[in-house]
Amino acid sequence: MRPKVISDSLKDVAEGEQCGAGKGWTMSLPRCPMVRLRVCRFTFRGLVFFTVAVALLYGFLLMDGARSAGKPPWLELNTCSPRNNVAFLKTHKCASSAIQNILFRYGDKHNLHFALPVTGNYFGGGRHIFEAGMVRSSPFNKVTPNIFAIHTKWNYEEVKKVMPEDTVYFTIVREPTALFQSLFDYASIGERAGGLTLDEYVRRNPIDASRTDGYVGYNQMTWDLGMPLEDMSNLTAARELVRRADAQFGLVLVAERMDESLVLLANYLCWELRDVLVLRVNSLRDEVRRGEGRGHTVPVSHSLLQVTHFVPPAVQVFHQ
Ligand SMILES: *[C@@H]1O[C@H](CO)[C@@H](O)[C@H](O)[C@H]1NC(C)=O
Repeated sequence: MRPKVISDSLKDVAEGEQCGAGKGWTMSLPRCPMVRLRVCRFTFRGLVFFTVAVALLYGFLLMDGARSAGKPPWLELNTCSPRNNVAFLKTHKCASSAIQNILFRYGDKHNLHFALPVTGNYFGGGRHIFEAGMVRSSPFNKVTPNIFAIHTKWNYEEVKKVMPEDTVYFTIVREPTALFQSLFDYASIGERAGGLTLDEYVRRNPIDASRTDGYVGYNQMTWDLGMPLEDMSNLTAARELVRRADAQFGLVLVAERMDESLVLLANYLCWELRDVLVLRVNSLRDEVRRGEGRGHTVPVSHSLLQVTHFVPPAVQVFHQ
């Protein structure tokens, strides 16, 4: 009896191993002889493994089907090449200093050339419409510039004359009343009109009133886009300006949608997202924004100096 028991149990063990019953496997179940089914019987663990295996197989088959139907868009590789010739209309009080800073840093990093004025941080001082000669006469412009990002009163045809053929053009806009409130404080418009509040100033001055310093005032984006003073109340001229801008700029960012705008910008220029990281530059302090206290915001030149690390050497020269 004893040897038989031993040999039987050895046989059971051997067949059990073969069927994988001891580990709860079910894959080899059909290979088990009917008489030994009790050894290879379904265990709860086996059932779970089987279910998971079928689910995985089904999943793989589904993925295979998706692959053969073409890659999903998020798997497509970005095949564009980075734009190195870029012109930006720097509109007043539209977060454009932050954008300018992005362009300066990128140009500095990639050893590009900048369109820079003879002195100051404007082409034409803000009053005069841009002319190619303003770039060409500058001692900083010995070669064709790659980056145009300095304040000016926009003149597309003239900017095109100084930039390479494959230049891409973009600008940034902001809701006009918020812009004017910011500008009113920033340029001390009320103060310089004899100490007027914003309300008083708006009541007393028509839309085509003379501009502070000859260039700052109502509808600043319209002015920056090239509108002459005599057309500031001409709706036909305004519509034409918008239509022209639409044709000239490949991308228009929106200051109120900065995050989305920056992602679009990186995409438009085919740059890395890390290239469009920003600092908040030259913005109203929060207490001024809330209406507490008078505005003493940082002038443009100082805000540029605060980020000296990122400013090309030639720009630093004209701020000294
Ligand atoms: C308004 O602008 C249009 C388009 O530029 C021009 O033809 C028209 O003469 C202007 N009207 C006035 C009153 O200046």
